[in-house]
Amino acid sequence: MGKDTLTVTDNRTGKSYDIPIENNAVRAPAFGQIKVDAEDPGLTIYDPAFQNTASCKSRITFIDGDRGILLYRGYPIEQLAEQSTFLETAYLLLKGELPNAEHFASWKHNVTMHTIVHESIKDFMDGFRYDAHPMGMLVATVGALSTFYPDAKRISDPESRRIQTHRLIAKMPTIAAFCHRHAIGMPYAYPDNDLSYTGNFLGMMFKMTELKYEPNPVLERALEILFILHADHEQNCSTNAMRSIGSSQVDPFSALAGACAALYGPLHGGANEAVLRMLQEIGSVSHIPAFLERVKKGEGRLMGFGHRIYKNFDPRGKIIKQLAHEVFEVTGRNPLTDVAVELERIALQDEYFMKRKLYPNVDFYTGTIYQAMGFPVDMFPVLFAIPRTAGWLAQWLEMVQDEEQRIARPRQVYLGSPARDYVAMERRPKDA
Ligand code: CMC
Repeated sequence: MGKDTLTVTDNRTGKSYDIPIENNAVRAPAFGQIKVDAEDPGLTIYDPAFQNTASCKSRITFIDGDRGILLYRGYPIEQLAEQSTFLETAYLLLKGELPNAEHFASWKHNVTMHTIVHESIKDFMDGFRYDAHPMGMLVATVGALSTFYPDAKRISDPESRRIQTHRLIAKMPTIAAFCHRHAIGMPYAYPDNDLSYTGNFLGMMFKMTELKYEPNPVLERALEILFILHADHEQNCSTNAMRSIGSSQVDPFSALAGACAALYGPLHGGANEAVLRMLQEIGSVSHIPAFLERVKKGEGRLMGFGHRIYKNFDPRGKIIKQLAHEVFEVTGRNPLTDVAVELERIALQDEYFMKRKLYPNVDFYTGTIYQAMGFPVDMFPVLFAIPRTAGWLAQWLEMVQDEEQRIARPRQVYLGSPARDYVAMERRPKDA
């Protein structure tokens, strides 16, 4: 049995260093001791986009990208999607264990008690233009929440952390639905706490003049499953933003606004919206080959394909494909599904995508389902943000209680000018 160390030889000096290996990782600061001379600041690890850098130890979500495995607190995503509810899964992510009946009842009660937002939040949202993107509204409104709850600054107080967690999980669907109602000029529909988490969200989105909104049980359950699938995904771009912003010890509302902003981008949570716009642009099966040729020439990406971690298949995509059939039984088949299915079939046989291990990810089919359920296309990233709030908060809670975490502050490899003297404007060359 060998030693749990890595021996590094610096060929500039001939010196060797033994660096401990712990949990299949080495600590980057250990490389700081590798210097040419006493003046040298020491070696740094250059890893743009953190392709092989762990920024934390975590016990929340496990992904094996080669085998297509996704576990929340050890439980396979397939089992949770089949048997759990979103609120139960959120509890699991946040607290580490599945709740017993009593704990679940009190968790559900606590979340439900916080679904209403302050009337001034409604007024704040009224200030947006009629065509404001709902994700922009969400980012701003979540940030604004921090001004309503100054007690959220007490991030070292477990009781304060607990209440902010309830508030955020409860209010995200309300704010999300209000974004939609604002866009279509309809009065805001207030939460109905008799309904389930997803049933209430559907009600706030789609309620018209009926006194009591009754969600379709198939669609309510489908949304529950989609929320479970999106609840966490370890150290992705937005979670990294949540942890990084939170590491400055700001309140969780401000950190979560930043996480939402990171999610908005088309390479991350904005991909579901981008997929649907791409499918609309392709329009028909006969246009697929020409579209893929453009992608292969580097003129745009096949949205909903590829993943930093999954290099075989995305287990969430498999569940979503099955779910699409169940939803279409109720809503009728989304005609864009034919384009999506054929696009996937051709791409999976194409050398460009095979060589780069590009497979459909979670966002490839969600858009067709959301659209069939009646959600407008620009609400899709918002539908991602609602459940991911549970994951962001679980990761934030883990981070603030982790004694090894300090303010996130990466290093850089400086390639700019060496020190030089300031030149007065009249002495600068004209062609500079
Ligand atoms: N279409 C065409 N080419 C692609 C795609 C794509 N969707 N994704 C990656 N590539 C190519 C890329 O051009 C590069 O090729 P080359 O080696 O010739 O330069 C190679 O594949 C590796 O790509 P990369 O950009 O280095 O991979 P990454 O790990 O940095 O990016 C990704 C991962 C998800 C951002 C990327 O695959 C992508 O842009 N996909 C489309 C957007 C998308 O669907 N995003 C949702 C991700 S899953 C849900 C979530 O996280 O929110």
